[in-house]
Amino acid sequence: MRILVLNGPNLGRLGMREPDVYGTATLDDLKLMLSADAPEHDIDLRQTNSEPELMGWLYEAADAKTPVILNPAAFTHYSYALRDAVAMLTKSGVPLIEVHISNPHAREEFRHTSVISGVATGVIAGFGFDSYRLALSQLIR
Ligand code: DQA
Repeated sequence: MRILVLNGPNLGRLGMREPDVYGTATLDDLKLMLSADAPEHDIDLRQTNSEPELMGWLYEAADAKTPVILNPAAFTHYSYALRDAVAMLTKSGVPLIEVHISNPHAREEFRHTSVISGVATGVIAGFGFDSYRLALSQLIR
Protein backbone atom coordinates (compact mmCIF):
# COMPACT_ATOMS: atom_id res chain seq x y z
CA MET A 1 0.00 0.00 0.00
CA ARG A 2 1.12 3.52 -0.76
CA ILE A 3 0.58 6.10 1.99
CA LEU A 4 0.92 9.85 1.49
CA VAL A 5 2.34 11.76 4.47
CA LEU A 6 1.65 15.42 3.73
CA ASN A 7 3.10 18.30 5.70
CA GLY A 8 2.10 21.95 5.52
CA PRO A 9 3.94 25.24 6.02
CA ASN A 10 7.11 25.60 8.07
CA LEU A 11 7.35 21.87 8.76
CA GLY A 12 10.31 21.72 6.34
CA ARG A 13 12.20 23.60 9.05
CA LEU A 14 11.76 20.91 11.69
CA GLY A 15 15.03 20.33 13.49
CA MET A 16 15.75 24.01 13.94
CA ARG A 17 12.22 25.40 14.25
CA GLU A 18 11.20 26.01 17.88
CA PRO A 19 12.91 22.84 19.16
CA ASP A 20 11.33 23.36 22.59
CA VAL A 21 7.94 22.73 20.93
CA TYR A 22 8.73 20.46 17.97
CA GLY A 23 11.96 18.69 19.01
CA THR A 24 15.24 18.47 17.10
CA ALA A 25 14.45 15.72 14.59
CA THR A 26 13.90 16.55 10.92
CA LEU A 27 11.39 15.45 8.28
CA ASP A 28 14.13 13.17 6.87
CA ASP A 29 14.29 11.48 10.29
CA LEU A 30 10.50 11.11 10.22
CA LYS A 31 10.60 9.50 6.79
CA LEU A 32 13.22 6.97 8.01
CA MET A 33 11.15 6.24 11.11
CA LEU A 34 7.91 5.63 9.19
CA SER A 35 9.63 3.54 6.52
CA ALA A 36 11.22 1.39 9.27
CA ASP A 37 7.80 0.97 10.92
CA ALA A 38 6.16 -0.14 7.69
CA PRO A 39 8.84 -1.58 5.38
CA GLU A 40 6.26 -3.35 3.23
CA HIS A 41 4.50 -0.06 2.43
CA ASP A 42 5.52 2.86 0.24
CA ILE A 43 5.75 5.94 2.47
CA ASP A 44 5.56 9.02 0.27
CA LEU A 45 6.41 11.94 2.56
CA ARG A 46 6.10 15.49 1.20
CA GLN A 47 6.18 19.04 2.55
CA THR A 48 5.07 22.33 1.07
CA ASN A 49 4.48 25.88 2.18
CA SER A 50 1.94 26.26 -0.62
CA GLU A 51 -1.78 25.77 -0.06
CA PRO A 52 -2.57 25.06 -3.76
CA GLU A 53 0.22 22.48 -3.93
CA LEU A 54 -1.13 20.72 -0.85
CA MET A 55 -4.61 20.73 -2.39
CA GLY A 56 -3.19 19.25 -5.61
CA TRP A 57 -1.69 16.39 -3.59
CA LEU A 58 -5.08 15.75 -1.99
CA TYR A 59 -6.68 15.57 -5.45
CA GLU A 60 -3.97 13.09 -6.42
CA ALA A 61 -4.82 11.01 -3.32
CA ALA A 62 -8.54 11.14 -4.18
CA ASP A 63 -7.94 10.02 -7.77
CA ALA A 64 -5.61 7.18 -6.79
CA LYS A 65 -7.52 6.33 -3.56
CA THR A 66 -4.33 6.70 -1.53
CA PRO A 67 -4.73 6.99 2.27
CA VAL A 68 -3.27 10.17 3.76
CA ILE A 69 -1.62 11.30 6.98
CA LEU A 70 -1.87 15.11 7.00
CA ASN A 71 -0.20 17.65 9.23
CA PRO A 72 -1.82 20.83 7.89
CA ALA A 73 0.37 22.97 10.23
CA ALA A 74 -0.95 26.56 10.43
CA PHE A 75 -3.50 25.86 7.64
CA THR A 76 -5.27 23.75 10.27
CA HIS A 77 -6.66 26.82 11.88
CA TYR A 78 -8.09 28.79 8.95
CA SER A 79 -7.95 27.11 5.55
CA TYR A 80 -11.50 26.39 4.40
CA ALA A 81 -10.08 25.57 0.96
CA LEU A 82 -8.01 22.79 2.48
CA ARG A 83 -11.00 21.63 4.52
CA ASP A 84 -13.10 21.33 1.36
CA ALA A 85 -10.35 19.32 -0.36
CA VAL A 86 -10.10 17.01 2.67
CA ALA A 87 -13.91 16.58 2.73
CA MET A 88 -13.87 15.64 -0.96
CA LEU A 89 -11.29 12.94 -0.18
CA THR A 90 -12.81 11.46 2.98
CA LYS A 91 -16.39 11.58 1.65
CA SER A 92 -15.23 9.53 -1.31
CA GLY A 93 -14.17 6.83 1.18
CA VAL A 94 -10.42 7.50 1.35
CA PRO A 95 -9.16 7.77 4.94
CA LEU A 96 -7.22 10.83 6.08
CA ILE A 97 -5.79 11.19 9.58
CA GLU A 98 -4.97 14.70 10.80
CA VAL A 99 -1.84 14.75 12.95
CA HIS A 100 0.02 17.32 15.01
CA ILE A 101 3.40 17.08 16.67
CA SER A 102 2.38 19.37 19.53
CA ASN A 103 -0.98 19.45 21.28
CA PRO A 104 -2.56 22.58 19.79
CA HIS A 105 -5.20 22.62 22.53
CA ALA A 106 -2.51 23.23 25.15
CA ARG A 107 -1.12 26.21 23.22
CA GLU A 108 -2.35 29.66 22.11
CA GLU A 109 -6.09 30.09 21.71
CA PHE A 110 -6.00 30.49 17.91
CA ARG A 111 -4.63 26.92 17.73
CA HIS A 112 -7.63 25.48 19.57
CA THR A 113 -9.73 25.58 16.40
CA SER A 114 -9.16 23.10 13.60
CA VAL A 115 -11.25 23.61 10.48
CA ILE A 116 -9.92 20.23 9.26
CA SER A 117 -10.88 17.92 12.17
CA GLY A 118 -14.60 17.87 11.33
CA VAL A 119 -13.94 16.25 7.96
CA ALA A 120 -10.89 14.12 8.89
CA THR A 121 -11.30 10.40 9.54
CA GLY A 122 -9.50 10.85 12.86
CA VAL A 123 -7.13 13.17 14.71
CA ILE A 124 -3.93 12.43 16.66
CA ALA A 125 -2.03 15.25 18.39
CA GLY A 126 0.55 15.85 21.05
CA PHE A 127 2.84 12.83 20.75
CA GLY A 128 5.70 14.30 18.75
CA PHE A 129 6.60 12.15 15.73
CA ASP A 130 4.72 9.31 17.41
CA SER A 131 1.52 11.10 16.28
CA TYR A 132 2.49 10.10 12.71
CA ARG A 133 3.51 6.57 13.79
CA LEU A 134 0.17 6.03 15.52
CA ALA A 135 -1.66 7.29 12.44
CA LEU A 136 0.36 4.95 10.23
CA SER A 137 -0.37 1.91 12.38
CA GLN A 138 -4.08 2.78 12.32
CA LEU A 139 -4.12 3.14 8.51
CA ILE A 140 -2.34 -0.21 8.14
CA ARG A 141 -4.93 -1.92 10.41
C1 DQA B 1 1.39 21.89 14.23
C2 DQA B 1 0.57 22.81 15.15
C3 DQA B 1 0.14 24.07 14.40
O1 DQA B 1 -0.58 24.92 15.28
C4 DQA B 1 1.34 24.83 13.90
O2 DQA B 1 0.92 25.93 13.13
C5 DQA B 1 2.30 23.98 13.15
C6 DQA B 1 2.57 22.62 13.62
C7 DQA B 1 1.94 20.67 14.98
O3 DQA B 1 2.33 19.71 14.31
O4 DQA B 1 2.03 20.68 16.22
O5 DQA B 1 2.95 24.44 12.21
O6 DQA B 1 0.52 21.42 13.19
